[in-house]
Amino acid sequence: MIDLKGKSFLTLKDFTMEEIEYLLDLSKRLKIEKRNGNQKKRLENKNIALIFEKESLRTRCSFEVSAHDMGANVTYINSSESHIGSGESLKDSARVLGRMFDGIEYRGFSQRNVEILAEYSKLPVWNGLTDEDHPTQVLADFLTAKEYVNKPFNEMNFVYIGDGRNNVANALMIGASKVGMNFKIITPKSLFPDNNLVEQCKKYTEISGGSITVSDNISENVNGADIVYTDVWLSMGEKEELWKDRIDILIPYQVNKQLIDLCNNNEVKFMHCLPSFHNLDTSIARKIHDKLGLEALEVTDEVFESENSIVFDEAENRLHTIKAVMVATLGNQDI
Ligand code: CP
Ligand code: NVA
Repeated sequence: MIDLKGKSFLTLKDFTMEEIEYLLDLSKRLKIEKRNGNQKKRLENKNIALIFEKESLRTRCSFEVSAHDMGANVTYINSSESHIGSGESLKDSARVLGRMFDGIEYRGFSQRNVEILAEYSKLPVWNGLTDEDHPTQVLADFLTAKEYVNKPFNEMNFVYIGDGRNNVANALMIGASKVGMNFKIITPKSLFPDNNLVEQCKKYTEISGGSITVSDNISENVNGADIVYTDVWLSMGEKEELWKDRIDILIPYQVNKQLIDLCNNNEVKFMHCLPSFHNLDTSIARKIHDKLGLEALEVTDEVFESENSIVFDEAENRLHTIKAVMVATLGNQDI
């Protein structure tokens, strides 16, 4: 019997394979209930603080819509309009919020911040993205992979290509090693993930039966992929001056038609946590285009808009999985 009541969701390192499967099953159930119009107010009268020190569309909306669907109230807090991190220490803010709220979501910089919030508020705290991790994203990704790849996790070939040491790459590696996937990170050597984290994840695969490969070689590693996943090449909080160098080293790792063909799997699915620079419809992409002449960065428009792409199902699943995390750790599951 799995009981996550009162537990924080800071990283998938803290969860077993069974607990992750449980959260995915609950997400599926909540998704069906929403579709059928028979959702129950499992978070009725709960007050939830949403702290965002970085931008967000999907994560913020998923927390807000989930809370409203389940009968909870939310308070949105950003760093420019609160004292958090500037005029008041996070420890003190955590103790104040702990007296008023029932749960806290945090998106920001250091992973240590979510740990401080959990320790000092004594509430369930949910990590909405830090520089090091993005665990709610991975639940949505795995739910989507389950929906589209007709294989159990321990037969699934999941390839992440691009910036190999950002929050999403880390979080996917942790999650994949917990549930036993064959997981590969393909990235230039200078962007290899932290070796301690790779070793820790390899330890998890001793229990789950999965495998972790980190390589800079594309052609040797994409054959037979069920999922090809990428993320932006410069993450929130990184300096804009880094764009040029990042593009120079990552352009060979762009997800394009040629790379999809190398997978030798007509059914291969393309995933991306979003937002994405796949065309010139954003001001950042246009600026880069004016300087370097590139039409797309981490993924071409052709792949993004292709039949292989399941990015909007993935984005929708942020809602159902975030709802499951809140319900499992704070809500009433008996109604
Ligand atoms: N994928 C993701 O976390 O999106 P947002 O930055 O829009 O929340
Ligand atoms: N790696 C990206 C993920 C955005 C959801 C970033 O941190 O900006």
